[in-house]
Amino acid sequence: MAAVAAAGADRELKVGYYENTCHDVEKIVKSIVINSVKADRGKGSGLVRLLFHDCFVRGCDASVLLEKSEVNRRPEKDSLANIGLRGMDVIDAIKAAVEERCPNTVSCADIIIYAARDAARYLSLGGVDFAVPAGRLDGVVSRSKDADVFLPDPASNLTELIRNFRRKNFTVEELVILSGAHSIGDTHCTSIAGRLTAPDSQIHPAYRSLLVAKCGGTVVGPSNNPSLVINVRDEDPQAVARSMPAFLPRLRKAKDYLDNSYYHNNLARIVTFNADWELLTGKQARGHVKEYAENGSLWNVDFADALVKLSKLPMPAGSKGEIRTKCSAVNYHH
Ligand code: HEM
Repeated sequence: MAAVAAAGADRELKVGYYENTCHDVEKIVKSIVINSVKADRGKGSGLVRLLFHDCFVRGCDASVLLEKSEVNRRPEKDSLANIGLRGMDVIDAIKAAVEERCPNTVSCADIIIYAARDAARYLSLGGVDFAVPAGRLDGVVSRSKDADVFLPDPASNLTELIRNFRRKNFTVEELVILSGAHSIGDTHCTSIAGRLTAPDSQIHPAYRSLLVAKCGGTVVGPSNNPSLVINVRDEDPQAVARSMPAFLPRLRKAKDYLDNSYYHNNLARIVTFNADWELLTGKQARGHVKEYAENGSLWNVDFADALVKLSKLPMPAGSKGEIRTKCSAVNYHH
């Protein structure tokens, strides 16, 4: 009979939680994350986003990892808000290695946080780092409509973003800090559709031309949905040479470098999502965008703190939890 335990807000998390039960877990996670990210830096961006998408929906309970099943036809993964989600294969590889060393001990929910921390540390060259409080359980509920409700829409305005983050007890400053994650990763044309026709006051016209060129005009939809990088600094040189040659010297060889470049881009109106640009429309949020543009090391520290706070979001009161055997499916319950 599979054990299912209470997993609500009063569950205490502890740094070094697996010290006696799975001593090497953090070493195992780190080595698999580093190898995966070395082979494909996009996996690292995926892992950082996975932390956010897991924790904002029913708390950090690995509900985002559950696949469709006979009893659950619309898991969180099916939500449009989870478009482009990646890195789950890295989590599966970690889980398999950890199960071999210490079976039925480490939750998938904890693995998500360890892996996101290691990816963030690697992509920021050590700038973003933190100790991970652990001891989470894996949830048994995953509903696409919860992801629709709790994950922010890229077309949101500032009021909606502030409301969305406040609901999870995050401040305007933390909204700005966490948005800085958009210095890395990829997106899809459908997620930036509104930006293709936004006025010059909201998007640098050369950058808009680049996005239009990438997305093949203003009509995008599920059948024609190319992907593109979020940080213009990671764009391919030809596209930049055509649309915004003045930006050529700022292109980077290593893609997906996690730093405060998002804030510089934002002040220059060269960010992908409407939700990013919106941060300039409120006095307080704009003040923080400027603050983090000016101080990259402060952002590193504050971003790490905000990820720890995200990682502590609990499951709804009264939820049940377990240690899953496989991260993509709940254990079998008699
Ligand atoms: C503030 C509200 C936010 C909105 C509206 C938003 C929206 C989005 C969207 C639409 C995408 C691209 C999806 C696609 O088209 O494939 C994306 C990607 C990404 N987001 Fe956010 N996001 C937000 C906050 C965050 C936060 C808090 C984090 C992490 C702390 C984060 C990390 C990322 C990363 C790393 C990617 C790239 C993922 C990859 O390359 O696989 N985002 N976001």
